[in-house]
Amino acid sequence: MGVVPRTLTEPWQLGGVTVPNRVVLAPLAGIGNWFVRLQAKRYGAGLAVSEMVSSHAVHYGNQRTCNELLRIHPDEHPVSVQLFGADPDVMASAAERVAAAGADIIDINMGCPVPKVCKTGAGAALLDDPDRAVAVARAAARGSGLPVTVKLRTGLRPGDGKGVAVARDLAQRGEVAALTVHPRHASQRHSGAPDYALAAQLVQELPVPVLISGGLRSAALARDAFQRTGAAAVMLARGSLGNPWLFAELLSGHEIAPTREQILAEVDWLLERAVEHMGEQRANRYLRKFYPWYIERLGGTRAQQAVLQAALQQAPSTASARELFHLAQLSSLGG
Ligand SMILES: Cc1cc2nc3c(=O)[nH]c(=O)nc-3n(C[C@H](O)[C@H](O)[C@H](O)COP(=O)(O)O)c2cc1C
Repeated sequence: MGVVPRTLTEPWQLGGVTVPNRVVLAPLAGIGNWFVRLQAKRYGAGLAVSEMVSSHAVHYGNQRTCNELLRIHPDEHPVSVQLFGADPDVMASAAERVAAAGADIIDINMGCPVPKVCKTGAGAALLDDPDRAVAVARAAARGSGLPVTVKLRTGLRPGDGKGVAVARDLAQRGEVAALTVHPRHASQRHSGAPDYALAAQLVQELPVPVLISGGLRSAALARDAFQRTGAAAVMLARGSLGNPWLFAELLSGHEIAPTREQILAEVDWLLERAVEHMGEQRANRYLRKFYPWYIERLGGTRAQQAVLQAALQQAPSTASARELFHLAQLSSLGG
């Protein structure tokens, strides 16, 4: 039977790892590095999952992958590193390195719909090859000695049920410590209503904890999905972008509206961590995709936001980006 928790603040067990609550940061490619995960942890996340990391790149010792994507901060435990790949031997080798890097859990991506990933047989393509999916998950456990989880879609296309079949296979054969279900088909990418009824069915049926992902953009939507599915935990993805307060909101049970000062302090923190992580020049480029999320938090009119956004995209340094944020006059903030 699936776990039926009472509250999001209750601790739970994931393959021997104690997770202090039921609010989890989702894997987010190109975003979920150590400092984004640490930020989620600072606001209370019980567990954070890394952005997806290529098992091939880890196996072949790619410098940037190993130094940057496998970097773990001492304060972010428990942390899960997500790997993608379709070759069991490569997965076992990569998983061993991930364990050595300090991960507590390994998650395998069986949900990514992007052609670049699927054409290698990895991501959601594994749903079409159930034997390989099981072999890959088993290899990750063998290589790492860590609890292994899988994040998957419910199918490749509407009505095919292939993800449900793989979820059953993995859980019933004891290959995974938990599963995350994103109840959209891979062909839907990230749009359309998630099928929480189907997720609830899997929660009831499977002998491992099932986490729910998809459509959890606000505290109300996350609480509703948690209750409706009976999932062991909720996994926040797009709703958490520029909004680490969502973790605190879900855990405290009351609405949190960060002040201008709090939002700017968070921007400063991110700028500093990014420079620490990848140096000034790369950080300045990398953070450009983060800025719109924080601009939106700050409020103001669309026109004001567009002006700030345009200036930030041209900012020659992180210091000037910081200054632009701090000097911005956005009307809803009272000037
Ligand atoms: C920019 C972006 C990057 C993502 N990267 C990953 C990834 O690396 N691994 C993964 O399993 N899912 C990834 N996802 C899927 C999310 O983890 C999540 O399942 C999905 O966004 C649905 O949740 P939401 O509707 O609450 O955003 C990504 C989603 C987005 C929007």
